[in-house]
Amino acid sequence: MDDEWICGRLGEDEPWMLGAVNPPVFENSLFTFATAGELGAAIKDEDERYVYWRGTNPTVDLLQRKLAALERGERAKCFGSGMGAISATISSLVSAGDHVLVLGAIYGPTTQFLRYLEKFGVTHTHAGDLDECDSAIRSSTRLLYFESPSYMRYEVFDIAAVTSWAAGRGLVTVMDNTWSTPIFQKPLTLGVDLVVHSLSKYIGGHSDLVGGAVTGASRLIRPLALTEYQLYGAAMSPHDGAKAIKGLRTLPVRMAAHQERGLAVAAFLESHPAVGVVNHPGLPSHLGHSLAKQQMSGFSSLFSFELDTESREEVAAFLNGLRHFRIGVSWGGFESLVNAPALTVEESVRATMGIPVGLVRLSVGLEAAETLIKDLGLALEGVGRLA
Ligand SMILES: Cc1ncc(COP(=O)(O)O)c(C=O)c1O
Repeated sequence: MDDEWICGRLGEDEPWMLGAVNPPVFENSLFTFATAGELGAAIKDEDERYVYWRGTNPTVDLLQRKLAALERGERAKCFGSGMGAISATISSLVSAGDHVLVLGAIYGPTTQFLRYLEKFGVTHTHAGDLDECDSAIRSSTRLLYFESPSYMRYEVFDIAAVTSWAAGRGLVTVMDNTWSTPIFQKPLTLGVDLVVHSLSKYIGGHSDLVGGAVTGASRLIRPLALTEYQLYGAAMSPHDGAKAIKGLRTLPVRMAAHQERGLAVAAFLESHPAVGVVNHPGLPSHLGHSLAKQQMSGFSSLFSFELDTESREEVAAFLNGLRHFRIGVSWGGFESLVNAPALTVEESVRATMGIPVGLVRLSVGLEAAETLIKDLGLALEGVGRLA
């Protein structure tokens, strides 16, 4: 099964689709049964049967089948947000007294969630590489959590090496694959146990939904679907499920366009005198480039670069000088976005994370690369004038 077929056709030739080119949105909160006995039997198997929207929904189910197939996993479960998927997944794997290892930089709210778990007796340690993991591992460590490429700096980890290290020590691995999407990287095939996604980024693709997913083996997904999914209530709505399915229809083609435009913009920035490092794993100058080429089949268009400045005012002036890039959080949509941690993250947190003042993050959208390059070139002309 190739990815384009999975995105566009998988699960769509079934009788309930009635040949419709887009799946029906089942917007009923509950399903009814002919007899009380049938309802009782369905409730006993709520992970497989349709009873109530907080547990299962046929539109969302179709999305789940497609995501599981794209990641080459047995099952997927979709949530009302990426954080819904991440918090439910981590909670399903740990108990009081357990310890979590975090490898590399991860999305801020995921770290915040791990800190939140401290009140239930679950601790965590951040490690920069496998040597640091060796020193930080404890007898109570259950889980290794990471992103590759990593958050903000886009450091590339050797996924097969990480998972074999973790498996040798009896740890479960969870990886956030939002950056690459399953089109460009399939971590389950490299030994990761569970893959989490924010569907709000490239998979949705149109900045019109918030959603999340976890994919992996049934033996790990089923308990999570019956417990954390039902109890936390972060269910995905069928409307968002249908929008994410629409996003999947164009995902392969959009990712190819994002890759091409992102690389063109990154190469332009790398050659500009007002710019220091460009953190894009698709550039040959990136430390993880050759590893990335081995384990990924392409590159998305979210990356960061350093403006040659120590002034927050100058970073703000650069952002305000852009006409085409819109200033905002999130990423992965059709629209190009810019954001700078020096202007949005608390100063002490930024410094602890080792993020320089001049770091700027771009999400390159689907506009022509020349338009975006011109926009950046004009805004860069102003850098240095305020210093
Ligand atoms: C890498 C990464 N993972 C997860 C999330 C969380 O996803 P959501 O906003 O859908 O909850 C985000 C959101 O920005 C993210 O950047």
